[in-house]
Amino acid sequence: MSYRTIDALEARGKRVLLRADLNVPVREGVITDRTRIERLCPTIAELANAGARVIVCSHFDRPKGKRVPEMSLKSLQEALSAALRRPVAWADDCIGPQAEAAVSAMADGDILLLENTRFHAGEEKNDPTMAAALAQLADAFVNDAFSAAHRAHASTEGVAHLVPSYAGRMMEAELKALDAALGNPARPVVAIVGGSKVSTKLDLLGNLSKRVDVLVIGGAMANTFLAAQGFAMGTSLQEAEMHDTARAILDTAKAANCEILLPSDLVVAEEFRANAATRIVTAEAVPEGFMALDVGPETEQAIEARLRTASTLVWNGPLGAFETPPFDTSTVAVAQVVAALTQSGALKSIGGGGDTVSALRHAGVLDRMTYVSTAGGAFLEWLEGKTLPGVAALTDK
Ligand code: 3PG
Repeated sequence: MSYRTIDALEARGKRVLLRADLNVPVREGVITDRTRIERLCPTIAELANAGARVIVCSHFDRPKGKRVPEMSLKSLQEALSAALRRPVAWADDCIGPQAEAAVSAMADGDILLLENTRFHAGEEKNDPTMAAALAQLADAFVNDAFSAAHRAHASTEGVAHLVPSYAGRMMEAELKALDAALGNPARPVVAIVGGSKVSTKLDLLGNLSKRVDVLVIGGAMANTFLAAQGFAMGTSLQEAEMHDTARAILDTAKAANCEILLPSDLVVAEEFRANAATRIVTAEAVPEGFMALDVGPETEQAIEARLRTASTLVWNGPLGAFETPPFDTSTVAVAQVVAALTQSGALKSIGGGGDTVSALRHAGVLDRMTYVSTAGGAFLEWLEGKTLPGVAALTDK
């Protein structure tokens, strides 16, 4: 895949529109995770230091084409400025006279944050007029929002065709990590896929089973696979209507020489609550009235054995109900092994998507993996083998 990075951008004096993903989690007005903001700073600082006028745009939440005051990006201006340790100016709109006036007032090295792109209906429709209005603000476009690249929107896709476009440092790091994970990986490759539903990860499981050497299935979705093989699963969460699909995935994997590792033992409890009394049982012997909430120690060891001989790991989704102890045990233990193997240089470990970042943070290994993506939907679509429009738009230049 060939795309230009900001190495190729003569930034001095240029108005650079930087597509960020400032869609950070906020609870009661407080940002609960600043990772996306922090990871964006190197690109902004590099461009500003090189004399660019950096115009940051992003969506926030889903205002559906209307101005929703609670979804204003104004609330992130201070956080961005604090993370960058430099002033960030504000424009009350992302296109039109207000944005244009704010851009005209910029000097080389200045940074400006524009209001939420999704306040305009044209954003999600990828309306050419909206894309042209964004393009009018800039001499160059830098996309640093891999996590929004699965959306073909005016500020992620449309505008990239109208001005010279480049991948920012965060986008570049993400694409490199993903290429090392599945594009051109060192083998053997192990994938760990967890989470609750087979139905939401069908395409992902189908694609991975053709591309990796070992596919570990954990979380509640493993229950569906076990039930599909005729095991009674007690009161475990599972999708009865997905049994045929689960069997088909097992067949695809077999044909592709991919080993599917399902739990051989499980941690079960009568109720799902913190510190509930647990039992360890074999996968075919979940007692009536009990539910599986984590994989057992034998399965944990089997996973770790595969990791010790692997060169690459792709991880999406926890192995158990990790938010509720003690059902975090296997996720934490496996994460520790992954971190140690990564630090010793034996394993390239790439994780991301949905709950994965929280699970890896909970395990305390976020900084000890090769790369952890903050992308949710984009990471999943990429694991499904789909082309991401925001990335594709950078590669046609
Ligand atoms: C995300 O948080 O995954 C991205 O910002 C995309 O957000 P969206 O699902 O609202 O498009």
